[in-house]
Amino acid sequence: MDSNNIDCLLLFYLLKGISIDSGRNTIELPNKPAMTWFTALANSCDTPTMTTDTTDKQPDNIDFSSLALAGIQGLHPYQPGKPIEELERELGVTNTLKLASNENPLGASSNALRAIQEPLQSLELYPDGFALKQKLAEVLSVNEDQITLGNGSNDVLDLIARCFLAEGRNAVFSEHAFAVYPIVTQAVGAEAKVAPALATDHAMPYGHNLNAMFDLIDHNTHVIFIANPNNPTGTWLTADELESFMLRVPKHIIIVMDEAYFEYVTEDEYPDTLQWLEHYPNLIVTRTFSKIYGLAALRIGYSVCSAEIADLLNRVRQPFNVNSIAIAAATAALDDIEQLKMSVLVNTSGLQQWEQACEENGWDYIPSVGNFICVDVGRDASQVYDDLLKEAIIVRPVANYKMPTHLRITIGLEEQNARCITALKKVLA
Ligand SMILES: Cc1ncc(COP(=O)(O)O)c(C=O)c1O
Repeated sequence: MDSNNIDCLLLFYLLKGISIDSGRNTIELPNKPAMTWFTALANSCDTPTMTTDTTDKQPDNIDFSSLALAGIQGLHPYQPGKPIEELERELGVTNTLKLASNENPLGASSNALRAIQEPLQSLELYPDGFALKQKLAEVLSVNEDQITLGNGSNDVLDLIARCFLAEGRNAVFSEHAFAVYPIVTQAVGAEAKVAPALATDHAMPYGHNLNAMFDLIDHNTHVIFIANPNNPTGTWLTADELESFMLRVPKHIIIVMDEAYFEYVTEDEYPDTLQWLEHYPNLIVTRTFSKIYGLAALRIGYSVCSAEIADLLNRVRQPFNVNSIAIAAATAALDDIEQLKMSVLVNTSGLQQWEQACEENGWDYIPSVGNFICVDVGRDASQVYDDLLKEAIIVRPVANYKMPTHLRITIGLEEQNARCITALKKVLA
């Protein structure tokens, strides 16, 4: 290639919006008249093609899925709830109510909204999570070196899998447990061992059965995922149940206590697992700012564990995995105790509102301590979900959790719950 052609190639990438590290001087965007000239020049350049020196004939159709790791071949991407804009465009409805992804109906703390102005002034700088770690350490009474920040707590679950799971190893979790556990387990080639949940007539129907989970542990088990409370069931485990389980589990197996909804739980017997870290060095507690802190859009979560395990997680963590706006918002949100209390109050009374509606209407439901409730609609829930969409209400069918007749409904504000209850009555009539 002569230098003219190289310039042509650089211009092509520049104008098509592809960034290039030329290894030479910094390339700056040209001014407007020059842009017009460059555009003409770029359009006159042929799209660059990679030429390879192939002598063998290449197959026309490559089945890339057969080339992926076996575990990944068997996975389905995580399905997020339907976006409001998409529903309104598709069905021509307005005033949509989204109760599908366990978000906080009160929104983010005003502290957080104010705090995000500052990092906006220095977006050119890579983020630094130190202040947030310091704040979390203070609030949680742990050391900074025990905390790992994640781009959502899902990111931390992924780090755990990459550190401790691989082909030939397995992770144990419960039937109906949070959908990300099979994804992170299988993605690294490990086996997912799924324990049957508690029976539907148990006091904690669909809940984690710790005995069944214990029975699945074998020599290849390296991680146990426990969601407390669990999504989508809203079921939970007491401190006594969990601690007697932990006493039995061999100490080299990592126990992940996923507490994405822990701030919502008002039960006295709910454990304070951070206190256990000293006695159980194999324990990792994960939490998030996506739920009660109302910062789901910013993607920020964290784990607390021994400094030794945190050091391992940090080895596989992407540098700067959490952005500066999320860090500022989360740090400020931790100070807003009033918002936290209000969120718990709204949720607790919303749960009661739903339980009462279920009882009045004869709908089966799973008692929940999260910010959502699973209602058994007694028929194919995907049809009921579609009917609710026509009422401009988005909830979550959970057939992918092997619960084809349940809908998971996020607890909203009183009037939002009332609107959803009325619509559900209508579509089930
Ligand atoms: C049980 C549980 N764990 C973890 C997460 C992940 O949350 P995030 O990645 O937003 O922190 C969720 C989100 O729905 C959840 O329900």
